[in-house]
Amino acid sequence: MSKRVLTTESGAPVADNQNSATAGVGGPILLQDQHLLEKLARFNRERIPERVVHARGSGAYGYFEVTDDVTGFTHADFLSEVGKRTETFIRFSTVADNLGGADAVRDPRGFALKFYTEEGNYDLVGNNTPVFFIKDPIKFPDFIHSQKRDPFTGKQEADNVWDFWAHAPEATHQITWLMGDRGIPASYRHMNGYGSHTYQWTNAQGEAFFVKYHFKTNQGIRSLSSEQGAELAGKDPNSHQTDLLQAIERGVNPSWTLYVQLMPAAEADEYRFNPFDLTKVWPHKDYPLQRVGRLVLDRNPDNVFAEVEQAAFSPNNFVPGIGPSPDKMLQGRLFAYADAHRYRLGVNHTQLAVNSPKATEANNYGRDGLMASNAYPRDRKNYEPNSYDGPAETGRALSAPLAVAGYTGTHEAPAHTKDDDFYQAGELYRLMSDDEKSRLIANIAGGLSQVSRDDVIEKNLAHFHAADAEYGKRVEEAVRALRED
Ligand code: HEM
Repeated sequence: MSKRVLTTESGAPVADNQNSATAGVGGPILLQDQHLLEKLARFNRERIPERVVHARGSGAYGYFEVTDDVTGFTHADFLSEVGKRTETFIRFSTVADNLGGADAVRDPRGFALKFYTEEGNYDLVGNNTPVFFIKDPIKFPDFIHSQKRDPFTGKQEADNVWDFWAHAPEATHQITWLMGDRGIPASYRHMNGYGSHTYQWTNAQGEAFFVKYHFKTNQGIRSLSSEQGAELAGKDPNSHQTDLLQAIERGVNPSWTLYVQLMPAAEADEYRFNPFDLTKVWPHKDYPLQRVGRLVLDRNPDNVFAEVEQAAFSPNNFVPGIGPSPDKMLQGRLFAYADAHRYRLGVNHTQLAVNSPKATEANNYGRDGLMASNAYPRDRKNYEPNSYDGPAETGRALSAPLAVAGYTGTHEAPAHTKDDDFYQAGELYRLMSDDEKSRLIANIAGGLSQVSRDDVIEKNLAHFHAADAEYGKRVEEAVRALRED
């Protein structure tokens, strides 16, 4: 077989890829060495900005298969028939660290799923935790600043992490989750995924339901202790990437079973918890899990940069039958993601293979911009409405309308009868076995005891006391013991 010829970007053959062109033997390099100039310039531009959060991640393709009839709750086409399969792409991630960070750290994990449906791409951008630290998007940049590297020391600081939490009592539930046994998953395969937010499903009759998604791992939950995590993070910083890649290469295809909790829309106002508060769960005894289908991952991407680094998920990519709820965090996210992609990847990120629809095509009048690669036929008009059979609106809303009332203003989220910042954190603590409680206390104390200011420690202790008297007492004692050491 004859060897393929090495070429420049423009396709011209390269004569020498080992020696740059010089003025005479041993002389300075010539500006006319196009191959050298192009190679060095191209190399300088290999990196793009990393994600501002969730920078480190791993991706895989697969499919979603419907196993149970949910047509009474949503008219989404990809959920319309038992046995129906839809191609998917998932990206798992850690949250706080940068692109080069280690995988086996105590941090939530991203669980971002793209369904390439026949009615467009549906992105469900969740985490491995059913709740979150805050309930208003206006706090998100401050929260993330406090968890990422300090601008002066260049590293994560316990002072910042816990100072933010001292001012965010609503984070106590998620902190209890994160510091507990599931805080360091053994791998991406051994953790659950949650939509976390409440979303809306609408059925063919126009009836609305509020819905929460739960992807339960079929590999079983496996987690690492803080000590195991620290050891693995040092030995193999890419442990989760290695695990996922190798499992799929070996044909050991990981899978998750999707369940939903469904609440008829009319019940939302009177529910004991505000169903749109991301710091709260809906106890399963109130709204039991109903099975929907299964997600299977069966193909690794060929190129991590093209398909994983450039993957763009946006919670506002809905399909008919699915829509947003009034959860303020979700509403903030409906803006944040596509905006991040336009900055990080450019306005035409939707044309990249991993991001564009696969089971249908995008038909609209958006045009041009940096790196546009879509070529339109010469008779395709670029305005709407037109008299030339161009794509036209359907007149059918994707989901049911949400009722609104009252005055505009910077309102706090409405509190329902059982709502406070601590009750569910206490419930979670009380659910744990004695051993789990001991590890939780040790993990919290290990971090909180590093804080330099007593008032910040006190404020945090007050939150654990408010969640459960025993919980607060044990954390307080453990912190004191470590600080006296
Ligand atoms: C108001 C709150 C939030 C804001 C403003 C926000 C914003 C962002 C931004 C800007 C990115 C980077 C996007 C990119 O460059 O590709 C991101 C990534 C991500 N966020 Fe959020 N986020 C918020 C809350 C959440 C919550 C509550 C969850 C989960 C329930 C979540 C899950 C994720 C995931 C999984 C990714 C990574 C997506 C990927 O793999 O590409 N975020 N977020």
